[in-house]
Amino acid sequence: MLFPDYRPRRMRQNEAFRRMVRETQLNVDDLILPLFVVGGKDIKNPIPSMPGHYQFSTDHLVKAAQQARDLGIPAVILFGLPSKKDPLATQAYAKDGVVQKAIKAIKDKIPDLAVITDVCLCAYTDHGHCGVVEGHTIDNDASLDLLARTALSHAKAGADMVAPSDMMDGRVAEIRNALDEAEMSHIPIMSYAAKYCSAYYGPFREAAESAPKFGDRRTYQMDPANAREALREVNMDVEEGADIIMVKPALAYLDIICRVKDEFDLPVAAYNVSGEYSMIKAAAERGWLDGRLVMMETLTAIKRAGADMILTYFAMEAAQVLNKR
Ligand code: PBG
Ligand code: ZN
Repeated sequence: MLFPDYRPRRMRQNEAFRRMVRETQLNVDDLILPLFVVGGKDIKNPIPSMPGHYQFSTDHLVKAAQQARDLGIPAVILFGLPSKKDPLATQAYAKDGVVQKAIKAIKDKIPDLAVITDVCLCAYTDHGHCGVVEGHTIDNDASLDLLARTALSHAKAGADMVAPSDMMDGRVAEIRNALDEAEMSHIPIMSYAAKYCSAYYGPFREAAESAPKFGDRRTYQMDPANAREALREVNMDVEEGADIIMVKPALAYLDIICRVKDEFDLPVAAYNVSGEYSMIKAAAERGWLDGRLVMMETLTAIKRAGADMILTYFAMEAAQVLNKR
């Protein structure tokens, strides 16, 4: 159909028509809120590069989780900052670790809020890498056992879902086996399946104090230039038993989200990462753009690309906007 028979503007002339033909609906149900937890009491350290976000001790963490729950957000994902770091990340799988205690505190008070845990070693190792280090290389297979132990200890503390973000080969199968053997076969795995080696993680590494002390993560996280490899990575995790497959970051990788959604039938998650949040916040603070509008446009675009759910630091703000509609 061509002009003048087809006039696309006909269906844009009023808000009622626009609502009727809108193809993508962002919902509060789509949002997952990341939270950072530290030991101690009455701690609420602002994260300078992520305005509105804090390192919370458990008491404040529960309050934030309650706010999320009250806004209708279905799930939070927890990141822990341990009191001590060592080569084998022992605090990652300690029974009384900071995340393990936080899970219990949230589930006690807010049982219907889903608690997901990020499973990785980088915040718990003294060298800051996501796996065990031998010399200056990351030992894949030696890392698997520690990752599985960490996931299992989160599940035993009451986590509803575990989310491995380390990018070691074979970790989904290892975690699935460990959970199944411990009669935790009901715990789903949200796998950071296509996770890129991205400079957009900058603010997060400040927030989680998890920057590597030497080198970078290029030997395990994906090269940003690769798309077909992402499909192989996702396929592996599907075969190994992932329940949800994640693409991360989101904004510079919308094509990957779209292709993963086309090729696989599992739910797709996208991580709208720290740098994506900080860029919008910084520009909005300067008055260079309308932060609220750009937030909603960005989240809608991630959903339109194919994400069934979005991990985002905007979760609370976006939920407020959505609840007002
Ligand atoms: C840990 C982890 C990272 C993020 C989530 N889990 C950082 C990294 O890989 O360095 C990034 C999240 C963000 O930037 O918001 N492996
Ligand atoms: Zn890591």
